[in-house]
Amino acid sequence: MDLRFEFVRRQTSRVVIGRGTTTQLRQALDEAKLRAVVVVHDEALAGLAARVAIALGGAPTLPVPGTEALKDLRHVETAVAALRQLGADRGTALLGLGGGSVTDFTGFLASIWLRGVPFVACPTTTLALCDAALGGKNGIDLAGRKNELGTIRQPELIVGDVDWLETLPDALYREGFVEVLKKAAVLDGERFAELERLLPALRARDASAAEAAITMAVAMKMAVVVADETERDRRRWLNFGHTIGHALESLAAGALRHGECVALGMLAECRAAGPSVPAVVMQRLAAALRAIGAPTEIPRSFARVDELWALAQLDKKVRDGLVPMIVPAELGRGVEVALTRDALALALR
Ligand SMILES: NC(=O)c1ccc[n+]([C@@H]2O[C@H](COP(=O)([O-])OP(=O)(O)OC[C@H]3O[C@@H](n4cnc5c(N)ncnc54)[C@H](O)[C@@H]3O)[C@@H](O)[C@H]2O)c1
Repeated sequence: MDLRFEFVRRQTSRVVIGRGTTTQLRQALDEAKLRAVVVVHDEALAGLAARVAIALGGAPTLPVPGTEALKDLRHVETAVAALRQLGADRGTALLGLGGGSVTDFTGFLASIWLRGVPFVACPTTTLALCDAALGGKNGIDLAGRKNELGTIRQPELIVGDVDWLETLPDALYREGFVEVLKKAAVLDGERFAELERLLPALRARDASAAEAAITMAVAMKMAVVVADETERDRRRWLNFGHTIGHALESLAAGALRHGECVALGMLAECRAAGPSVPAVVMQRLAAALRAIGAPTEIPRSFARVDELWALAQLDKKVRDGLVPMIVPAELGRGVEVALTRDALALALR
């Protein structure tokens, strides 16, 4: 016998982001037919988690560390034991409330526990709202390598309340908008120009500007993900800044944050791409990053060519020894070029 079977997976992922959306959570979960839920939350956000649990009619909570340290196998084991204790089962949705560390971790847990339970992402940082909680990529780190274990699994529901951002420190607040600039730089020149106009208001933490930028991020990212969920084509464009950025993040081992590494990675990749990126593109990108308060110079202590090159070669996108990266050939249009050790050395000078 030689038969072929085509599997067609139909799934809806609903995104509700705005001001005061906490009050809509219960209804949104009901509409997604999600009754039982456990709130897996950043332990530093216990007050917010309690409010969310009340809004959900008294849902149980499971506190976890809210930083990169959470993305570790040992925390998967601990969380599974806690879910068992809470009496959760296959019909229980896991709601991840926190930054990208918590949404990456909870999405991963939801995709493997009991072969998969429903997942709701409630991002509480600008970076998670603009990027990490969108698109279904989740995972944990292994042996110091970022996202070495992971799955692609869309959340049934993403709910974000712009009011949750009020407690974020300035540096973290601004950092998420680096990911919006990144998307616009390779996908949409008009939105890049619109973001340039919004930058002073974003820096001043204006809530309407934040909502506008987050809305742009959702529109740009989800359009790409719906067309190319498994990154065979256009989704790879979203990796702009992440080839050198991820290598830097691994090398810095916590001393530089994800958004900072992406900002530094974007500029280094543009420099490494040589004539593929026009000078005016570099200038506007660098000016926008400066305006949002992101770093633009890789600290000398991390400009270590051999180590960064070795780490870049561990990138999941590497094929046949080629390290691909996406850079803007013009604002709004990405192009793929290969990173070489020499080009990296040049970019780090
Ligand atoms: N899955 C994806 O597609 C994707 C995309 C980008 C980034 N990521 C991942 O996201 C992670 C980084 O996420 P992050 O930048 O949100 O950082 P984070 O989740 O590590 O949180 C950073 C800090 O912010 C605190 N925090 C969170 N929300 C807060 C709030 N509302 N008020 C005050 N403090 C708050 C946390 O306690 C923590 O100390 C990385 O692991 C990165 O790999 C994933």
